[in-house]
Amino acid sequence: MTDMAPIIKPGIKPDIKPDIKPDIKMEIKINGRKIVAREGQTILGVAKENGIKIPHLCFHPALKPSGSCKLCGVEVASPSGKQVVMLSCILKVKKNLEINTESVLVSGHREKSFNKLLQMAPDSTRIRNLANEFGVAVTPPPNGCIRCRLCIRVCNEIVKARALKMVKTEEGSRVMLGEGNCIGCGTCANLCPTHTIQVNDQESVRTISIKGQIIGQLPLEWCEGCGKMYATANFLKHVAQSTLNHPDTKEHHHLCSSCIKLMSNRALNEGEHFRK
Ligand code: SF4
Ligand code: FES
Repeated sequence: MTDMAPIIKPGIKPDIKPDIKPDIKMEIKINGRKIVAREGQTILGVAKENGIKIPHLCFHPALKPSGSCKLCGVEVASPSGKQVVMLSCILKVKKNLEINTESVLVSGHREKSFNKLLQMAPDSTRIRNLANEFGVAVTPPPNGCIRCRLCIRVCNEIVKARALKMVKTEEGSRVMLGEGNCIGCGTCANLCPTHTIQVNDQESVRTISIKGQIIGQLPLEWCEGCGKMYATANFLKHVAQSTLNHPDTKEHHHLCSSCIKLMSNRALNEGEHFRK
């Protein structure tokens, strides 16, 4: 008969720790606390058994450790006596080994390791939550803004609402509410090359926001032609005021751009008809 794979019954764990010798015990110290460990155990395994938390992401009990994420670093004295960081998912217990999981050295190592992982996966909530759980300050996720200032420039130079400005924060420069008031024209969103600024028209209200930060929230007006919501009252008022003395201004209307086009086409056709 050929060798058969062991049958794993539900509720019975496979032997995934073949290196551990339960009979050979030794004392180690973690954070000054004396702990009895079994030969072959990893520091991460001993810590877990004893309720000592160490962050880790690439460790899986059914697989050999790979040491990829580097989050599980702990402080240990090297043979030369120097304190160094070693990966607890790989480091095996040794008699009288002294481990520190909360030292300054470990905190620095964790911060570096978390930020390195976040460079590869900036939106990972799992990594961010884990960093938060261990009190590690990590760089915030990028919001998509490339600091081109098109939104601010158009709002200042053309719309003249001065609703946006660039503010230096701990997390870098960010577009924020300026000294003026947003009139809800949406020009900033139209120009934004990365779609960081969003316009959302819902239930007769227009909301302009930058990744959740609301810049303006204004009621919308209906087009007198087709009845669609098309512009904010503040924007229409702003246009009326700013074009009041313009020589080309004829009369102010409440029509969307499609209806204006229709009206001018009609006027054109009627004019032609009249000329015939
Ligand atoms: S929000 Fe958009 S338009 Fe404004 S600075 Fe950032 S990328 Fe440029
Ligand atoms: S758990 Fe990822 S390196 Fe140890």
